[in-house]
Amino acid sequence: MQELKKKIIVLVSGSGTNLQAVIDAIKTNEIENVEISMVISNKQDAFALKRAEKEGIPTCFINPKEFSDNTQYDKKLTEIISKYNPDLIILAGYTRILTNQFINSFKNKIINIHPSLLPAFGGKGMYGHKVHEAVLKSKVKESGCTVHFVTENLDAGPVIAQKKVPITDSDTVKTLSERVLKEEHKLLVEAIKKIIFSSRHFVYNT
Ligand code: GRF
Repeated sequence: MQELKKKIIVLVSGSGTNLQAVIDAIKTNEIENVEISMVISNKQDAFALKRAEKEGIPTCFINPKEFSDNTQYDKKLTEIISKYNPDLIILAGYTRILTNQFINSFKNKIINIHPSLLPAFGGKGMYGHKVHEAVLKSKVKESGCTVHFVTENLDAGPVIAQKKVPITDSDTVKTLSERVLKEEHKLLVEAIKKIIFSSRHFVYNT
């Protein structure tokens, strides 16, 4: 009997290279028995939507301007995602902060990829290039990326996988972010495999 495919929803805001890494890993069977049910964006022009469309994956743009506040926005998001009853929700470069209500509706099922070695350089205001700017300013010798479960505490949920990346004296935000992003792609796939095939999947102790 064929195993039912696990359903993934991916939330995006930008270029979607992490989404692409997941799509490619599914296509090459590196990640097995998984399908991306839908890619949802808060930005209409996110290139990630084009990547999904190219693969025939359903997409959805939810316009923040149509909602009075975050609570209403996330209610809509919950309504759309619930229809799929997903096994996993991936924040892949998603820039909106989720409401606690949303997080608790999909407890233990939401993961995020963050471009630093959490708990270092995480939390409010730490996203995108701001993370790498802060890392370089602090003069630490290494950075990296983290995949973690999303809990009510921003960037502080249980870590699923982490990868270190060296920093050189000549690094700029551009060179460092590119080096980290390459590792993000591998780490996200590794983390998904770990979750999907783990006997303890989607359960963690707080
Ligand atoms: C990545 O560094 C991710 O960690 C961050 O946004 C960046 C863009 O990723 N949160 P992508 O190309 O849109 O996947």
